[in-house]
Amino acid sequence: MELDKGIHDRASFDCGEAELNLFIQTQASKHMQAGVSRTMVLPASTPSPNQKTPICAFYSIAPCSICRDTLPKALVKKLPRYPVPVFLIAQLAVHREFQGEGLGKICLINALKYLWEINAHMRAYAIIVDCLTDAAETFYAKYGFEVLCEHNGKVRMFLPMKTVVRLFC
Ligand SMILES: CC(C)(COP(=O)(O)OP(=O)(O)OC[C@H]1O[C@@H](n2cnc3c(N)ncnc32)[C@H](O)[C@@H]1OP(=O)(O)O)[C@@H](O)C(=O)NCCC(=O)NCCS
Repeated sequence: MELDKGIHDRASFDCGEAELNLFIQTQASKHMQAGVSRTMVLPASTPSPNQKTPICAFYSIAPCSICRDTLPKALVKKLPRYPVPVFLIAQLAVHREFQGEGLGKICLINALKYLWEINAHMRAYAIIVDCLTDAAETFYAKYGFEVLCEHNGKVRMFLPMKTVVRLFC
């Protein structure tokens, strides 16, 4: 479901990465209000002492574009010479308490399915992610993401939308 600061206990979320914790705690809701990204959460079934619902995992998505020249040469040939539209999985994280139990995989599949549905209305060439850590890179590589380039000190990976379409059709 979509993040709702009135319902979800953002303060108790801890995935072990300060940047991602800060994002869900202070920025995700503002970014949604500003219309720049959407954050979806996997809520816990039991409430926090403050009666809010803890967040087990979340992901954020946004439209984005990449320069065609960052793509592998074999893929570039058929693309126009202007920025290529893609979807960005801007953030994806699982609460420390639940890591290693398959929630990351569920979140990623939910994100891919959601973006696949959007792609039926507004096309994007690929889905990209910017990896904070080597562990994140290993996680995304498991699901077919390939390294694209370095972006703001992070490893940017991509998965062609054609691959995602094959997954759900
Ligand atoms: C990376 C992260 C999202 C993975 O979520 P998770 O719920 O722990 O992972 P899952 O249990 O769904 O594991 C899915 C697969 O990825 C693998 N995997 C998960 N974390 C891994 C890690 N740190 N290193 C290597 N492989 C990993 C698992 O072995 C599993 O493979 P399997 O199905 O063959 O056993 C989660 O650990 C996390 O939030 N980490 C901190 C924040 C972060 O780095 N997010 C990435 C944003 S760039």
